[in-house]
Amino acid sequence: MKKAKILVTGGTGYIGSHTVVELDAAGYEVVVVDNFSNSTPEVIDNIESITGKKITFLELDCADKDHMRLLFAKHPDISAAIHFAAYKAVGESVDKPVEYYHNNLSSLLCLLSEMTAGGRRGSVVFSSSCTVYGQPKAEHLPVSESAPLQPATSPYGKTKQMCEDILTDASAAMKGALKVISLRYFNPVGAHPSAKIGELPRGVPQNLLPFVTQTAIGLREQLSVFGNDYNTPDGSCIRDYIYVCDLAKAHVKAVDRMLERADEMEGDIEYFNLGTGRGLSVLEIVNMFEKATGVKVNYRIAPRRAGDVEQVWADPARANKVLGWKADTPLEDVLRSAWEWEKKIRS
Ligand code: WQD
Repeated sequence: MKKAKILVTGGTGYIGSHTVVELDAAGYEVVVVDNFSNSTPEVIDNIESITGKKITFLELDCADKDHMRLLFAKHPDISAAIHFAAYKAVGESVDKPVEYYHNNLSSLLCLLSEMTAGGRRGSVVFSSSCTVYGQPKAEHLPVSESAPLQPATSPYGKTKQMCEDILTDASAAMKGALKVISLRYFNPVGAHPSAKIGELPRGVPQNLLPFVTQTAIGLREQLSVFGNDYNTPDGSCIRDYIYVCDLAKAHVKAVDRMLERADEMEGDIEYFNLGTGRGLSVLEIVNMFEKATGVKVNYRIAPRRAGDVEQVWADPARANKVLGWKADTPLEDVLRSAWEWEKKIRS
């Protein structure tokens, strides 16, 4: 028997596409919307090739109220939405703050107003980020959901914090008619085992792993390790690298919780830190990649990157316990999946 219909905004993006695959595997009916601002239409074909099914897809801009009104008119039986649609490059957001505030806030606001129009009940899983914690103090590492939030260091991070505030106020005002689960990602990495979907950075990759794989395959001359003079064991920054497929599965668990066990929710909005609970440095990732793939990575130590936090990794205990979810794919396998994907898209 078909489960509920789930809207996935930004569903042709990196995490969105992997989540669509996992929702389908869990038996949900999925409606995907995207404006291809950071993806391509062939991602739909690739998702369909993995699931073996046609995907309901509408090309639209979530920040366009008319588009969203049409969407809900066409699909009034949407039971929940997973909201990925947003710009997400930290550095770019510093150069283009107005675009980031407009797009990231308007898309959420349009979603909320159209989803709950006429007092209709709503359930939203929000794609948030560990950037809301800034640089946690030593006593707050690993980071749990009770760690203090700190002013974000980029317009991108600020939009995530503002969106969480919007969701808090909207769910409070709707007195139980709007349920929200905000998932705070650490560092998503890797690609689907089929190598049919993965991270498709536009231009020069901002994130570490795509730069590593593009250097390994010869597309980039050399990886710059941004600083080895931090107060960490090997001097390079520490992050919590989580397999994108494990991350995608957490979204299914969040939808399950809101649709099947909403009465267990502690209030109208819940937060979960999605990480492995293990911090690894940049140099450890590079070394682990070389060991896992047998491919050398040419790198140099470069100056620190502005805006980087020194070290942050998750305490995922609450997500493990409450969502019944755990990121347990061995990182060597994850790094190999990224390498297989890189080779596939360059073949
Ligand atoms: C990781 C580490 C860099 C590139 C990301 C996303 C952000 C949010 C949080 C979801 C840092 C170092 C990188 C390179 C390097 N995710 N690095 N050389 O900054 O933790 O932020 O996760 O919302 O959207 O961007 O990830 O991969 O950019 O950097 O040395 O060429 O790798 O300095 O220490 P970051 P990242």
